[in-house]
Amino acid sequence: MADLDDLREGSRFGIGTPVESQSFHIKGADNLPWGMKDRLNRIFNSKTGKSVMLAFDHGFIMGPTSGLERIDLNIVPLIEYADCLMCARGILRSSVPATANKPICLRSDAGTSILTELNDNVLIDIEDAIRMNVSAMAVMLAIGDPKMEATTIANLYKAVDQGTRYGIPVMGVTAVGKDMARDARYFGLASRICAENGANIVKTYYCDGFENVVAACPVPIVIAGGKKLPEFEALELCYKAINDGAAGVDMGRNVFQSEDPIAMIQAVHAVVHNGLTPQQGIEMFNDLKK
Ligand code: R5P
Repeated sequence: MADLDDLREGSRFGIGTPVESQSFHIKGADNLPWGMKDRLNRIFNSKTGKSVMLAFDHGFIMGPTSGLERIDLNIVPLIEYADCLMCARGILRSSVPATANKPICLRSDAGTSILTELNDNVLIDIEDAIRMNVSAMAVMLAIGDPKMEATTIANLYKAVDQGTRYGIPVMGVTAVGKDMARDARYFGLASRICAENGANIVKTYYCDGFENVVAACPVPIVIAGGKKLPEFEALELCYKAINDGAAGVDMGRNVFQSEDPIAMIQAVHAVVHNGLTPQQGIEMFNDLKK
């Protein structure tokens, strides 16, 4: 019980000052409950609206990918420069320090090494995601794949149902099979399907006409980096994506396979959040490079 002797009459009621209505800075999230918004806000910077997510989930189907042989040596030193970490639960528990204090976008489905990552048909138990205090759950969608589309949409649907119950946003990740066209029509279709089925964030690839993909997607889009490019080209990719409306990048190989990953993630961060041009970005990279 509070000390009654010190109770005073309030006087600061702000009579005549209307309550400020606050619009939320994340696309499509205005109507979400508080917990969802809090988690999304941990991922997307409230000043720039953008995010640099560091993806190092590749090993869950590819084993010790180049640059991910030792998470403690290759990834942990990059964590302080990332806005969000995307990884699978085994690596999170075993190798990411619990003191990292970064939002986690947890890889929440499972694949096999046999048929590439399109072979996804298992979803994490929501209680496990809660135990790890994740800020989002990532689920792969194989849109256009005759064998896997239905299964992966069902995975997304289930993740959204469970995430909604507990306030955890879901990121739909659009996989591109070998036979699928990497164009705005395909990425527009795949992104929209993710959002229509309830994804709060979509991860897809940059392409010509990307502004149309972004315009037709009612939630934020972050781009994957894809295979390793020369540093200038990777920074150019980030720049173009942000310019065309992406809310950030979820990049892996172009960071951790760079000749200087710490310099690279800082240059990516500056392009995404501060609007550096690719030329300014590469100059920053070269200045920071050891
Ligand atoms: C997506 O599901 C993958 O597992 C990676 O997280 C994604 O491809 C991003 O990594 P990268 O920039 O290397 O393509």
